[in-house]
Amino acid sequence: MSHQKKTVVLGVTGGIAAYKALDIVSRLKKYDIDVHVIMSNSSCEFVTPLSFQSLSQNIVISDMFAEPKSWEIQHISLAKKADLLLIAPATANIIGKVANGIADDMLSTTVMATKAPVVFAPAMNTNMYANKIVQDNISKLKGYGYDFIEPNSGRLACGDNGTGKLADTKLIADIVISKLHTCKDLVGKKVLVTAGPTIAPIDPVRYISNRSSGKMGYAIAEEARDRGADVTLISGPCDLEIPFGVKFLKVETNGDMLCSVLKIYDNMDIVVKCAAVADYKPKKYAKEKIKKTDKEFTLELEKDNDILYELGKKKKNQILVGFAAESENLLKNAEAKLNKKNLDMIVANDISCNDTGFKSDFNRVTILTRNDKFSLDKMTKKEVAHELFNLINKLKR
Ligand code: CTP
Repeated sequence: MSHQKKTVVLGVTGGIAAYKALDIVSRLKKYDIDVHVIMSNSSCEFVTPLSFQSLSQNIVISDMFAEPKSWEIQHISLAKKADLLLIAPATANIIGKVANGIADDMLSTTVMATKAPVVFAPAMNTNMYANKIVQDNISKLKGYGYDFIEPNSGRLACGDNGTGKLADTKLIADIVISKLHTCKDLVGKKVLVTAGPTIAPIDPVRYISNRSSGKMGYAIAEEARDRGADVTLISGPCDLEIPFGVKFLKVETNGDMLCSVLKIYDNMDIVVKCAAVADYKPKKYAKEKIKKTDKEFTLELEKDNDILYELGKKKKNQILVGFAAESENLLKNAEAKLNKKNLDMIVANDISCNDTGFKSDFNRVTILTRNDKFSLDKMTKKEVAHELFNLINKLKR
């Protein structure tokens, strides 16, 4: 995300899910977003404005406490200030009002007056959500360019089962952050990212793998998505949530990853190979669990594919970016890989530092191109991803 401070106006309407909107505020604040909350009267019955005020550190506007008609002026300033207007939870009532041009309170007038993108995250009883009138209103609003984050299905507060639960608050916050991304310089580009470790099975219960968490690769895929690219993320096993808005493929072994990557490689514009691919695999896979004996046990390994090397050989117009995980001679080793694997760029990663690298959310890298070198300070993996694409864009063919 670019570092210019953004403003989100969050409309909270009346439903039990209103308490979940507190979490959305706190997530957005972590990204240094200025959040202004407008509460409908009925939402104040579920959560107090003071809770939103404490988290957003801004005065909460609700008609309940407003001077008569004061919203008629206030709504204009918030409508202008907003980079994005999010309504979460959005009831059938607010959806119906906006769809039919009704502007009779602070929130509905702000929605009507804003030129910023408006995103609805509906939450309501499942029968209400399925109601044709609500669905027609949603279709109508989508036709006007309003966005919706679909509700989940599951057990609702009223005891019913079905669709109507507010979408996951992390997903809502991620979508908002993604939409606030101003630099859309990868629109029309196809980007492939590989991430995480691969595993080399020994027998049905054991395997060889490595410490890669996948965090760096997932951050790269998210950054490319936020810049407007069509992203495919091919990931080895890791615990991270699948990012929204990307094509996602889960693989296990080096061979699986090679196969999946080769299927789409020719159509890609940019390929970032962040995965920590296993270089060796057991010479023989034991179909049955290997039993312990009194003797020593030796595992014979054979070389597996160097996926990036294969991609380097087949490269046509793609920009090919690799990573180099090194514990010594960082730049020398990284440069050797850049040349050997026919890359356009390599991100050199010193894995001997404890405060960055594998499990950490931070990284300190040096990015090498064919004729330049950029040493970055310690920063979050998201920020590294941002800097990486700034440099890739300079190379873009
Ligand atoms: N890579 C790959 N296939 C492998 C090994 C690595 O595609 N079998 C890719 C990684 O995704 C990374 C780059 O090659 O982008 C460098 O990976 P790294 O593990 O640092 O280097 P290796 O080539 O495996 O060399 P070494 O282990 O000797 O450092």
